[in-house]
Amino acid sequence: MRAVEIRELHFSYGSEVLKGVNLEVERGEVFGLLGPNGAGKSTLILHLNGILKPRKGTVQVFGLNPVKKPREVRKLVGIVFQDPNDQLFSPTVFEDVAFGPYNLGLRGEELEERVVGALRAVGMENYAKREVRELSFGEKKRVAIATVLAMEPELLVFDEPFANLDFRGKAMVRKIIESLRGEKTVILASHEAEYLALCDRIALMDGGRVIKVGPPEEVLEPGLLREHNLDVPPMVELFHALGLGVPRNLEEAKALIDKLLSAQTNSLRR
Ligand SMILES: Nc1ncnc2c1ncn2[C@@H]1O[C@H](COP(=O)(O)OP(=O)(O)OP(=O)(O)O)[C@@H](O)[C@H]1O
Ligand SMILES: [Mg+2]
Repeated sequence: MRAVEIRELHFSYGSEVLKGVNLEVERGEVFGLLGPNGAGKSTLILHLNGILKPRKGTVQVFGLNPVKKPREVRKLVGIVFQDPNDQLFSPTVFEDVAFGPYNLGLRGEELEERVVGALRAVGMENYAKREVRELSFGEKKRVAIATVLAMEPELLVFDEPFANLDFRGKAMVRKIIESLRGEKTVILASHEAEYLALCDRIALMDGGRVIKVGPPEEVLEPGLLREHNLDVPPMVELFHALGLGVPRNLEEAKALIDKLLSAQTNSLRR
């Protein structure tokens, strides 16, 4: 059974914004949703736990219909919304992060450990007693991520998780995603291609449609990105020009360059 299976999904808020989306996400995948502003990424994501209902077509998450089984699906799927103000509603940081696991039945020390662990993962362990409304936007974003981590869902969906985070915040989110790889299913939505190079596969969306699905080296192609009004990350531009594919991270980039250099040295020796 797949983590997500979407068939011919249509949705309209008045005018149609999803125009027949087909998408499959395998269990254990780190899957990217890439697309310019207004492509329909957030709208698609809100179908994964039944917040929005398809006008036409079907959505299945771990074989369940989120509209028909919202309680079951919401235990399996945790969505970090694009705007943390849509996620946080308790007076204090601790209460907000504890809300989900409390509803799952956790109490006492077990609950406390879950909350502290999730806050530590986003570097907010010293903020537990703070009032949510006093936090900066970036701090709220980290707490919003912690609320979802604390529930330990099978599928974690991050809508623009890197937006508004500083260098350390972005590194922490990358580390969280790497720690989930292989254990959980992860969906990452962003209009910035550079954050999606770490994905196993990426779907490029534009105008309410999926334009292309494939591994980063196929989808993060400079011409295609420009055509869809997306920034071309310098690293993608450079590696594409060198014919080296798309490195997932700096280590992979170094390994690719080493390979290129040794191939050139060998051909000079001949
Ligand atoms: N609540 C709403 N009511 C009416 N129209 C909406 C609503 N939410 C989104 N839209 C419209 O639906 C389209 C898709 O929006 P959506 O937020 O899904 O795009 P997105 O790909 O997430 O964009 P972004 O990169 O800006 O987050 C946009 O044209 C937007 O104006
Ligand atoms: Mg969005």
